[in-house]
Amino acid sequence: MSVIKKRKKTTVQSIVRMKSRSERIAVLTAYDYFTAQLLDEAGIDMILVGDSAANVIHGYSSTLPIGMDVMIAHTAAVARGNKRSLLIADMPFLSFQPSLEVAITNAGRFLKEGGAEAVKIEGGIEMVPTIKRVVEVGIPVMGHIGLTPQSIHRFGGPRVQGKGKKSRAYLMESALALEEAGCFSMVLELMEKDMAKDITTALKTCATIGIGAGPDCDGQVLVTNDILGLREPEFKPKFLREYANLPPIITDAAKRYIEDVRKGDYPSDDESFSKK
Ligand code: KIV
Repeated sequence: MSVIKKRKKTTVQSIVRMKSRSERIAVLTAYDYFTAQLLDEAGIDMILVGDSAANVIHGYSSTLPIGMDVMIAHTAAVARGNKRSLLIADMPFLSFQPSLEVAITNAGRFLKEGGAEAVKIEGGIEMVPTIKRVVEVGIPVMGHIGLTPQSIHRFGGPRVQGKGKKSRAYLMESALALEEAGCFSMVLELMEKDMAKDITTALKTCATIGIGAGPDCDGQVLVTNDILGLREPEFKPKFLREYANLPPIITDAAKRYIEDVRKGDYPSDDESFSKK
């Protein structure tokens, strides 16, 4: 008798367990139903509905313009396609910063209307009161420190973090405070690899998920469009590994379709309805 091992639903507890067992955690972003289905079937541990949707889906040059209603629509589409991965929704710019009440209401909307199982909140130690309250009402939180794209104008561009003594102290202090506040995981974005390693070692119950933070994090996250080549050609950060190059495939399919329509080769008789 063959034993088919069924993959169990990933929960917040499974992620914490994976950290304690030093099992690496794989995370990708998704914004739509079919991509979510494919990533889930491939076995991804967590799907993040990132506010990177602003860039890679809506064509904005930063993540700042995307709002709650659009993010909830993306999250709900992903939830319909996902079965087993842990589904995280990214709280967009100004959906949590104004007040604790606003943060709880919007985090709750992602669970109630979007079907998310956790939310991601950008920011360091200054976000502790917000994260604490959101966790207290029963919503799991993934933190996000290092380069936080919602503060891109303060950083003055995508600069690697953790270079000076002050920056390293702030990052470590933030990581420890966010774990203490109840984060079950934390994105470490664009920082020197030894900084990410030190944070990963210092955190006991909060799994670090790196992007541009070296190999010693508990897991890694990349933007799915980026690994498929669906990005601006000039966007090629050092940390990005491209696993497929879809643009020529899409262009070729579109060109062949256009040619067939123009030649009258599409649709054929077999592709048309008739009386008999
Ligand atoms: O919005 C996003 O996709 C993200 C990941 C890159 C971590 O925040």
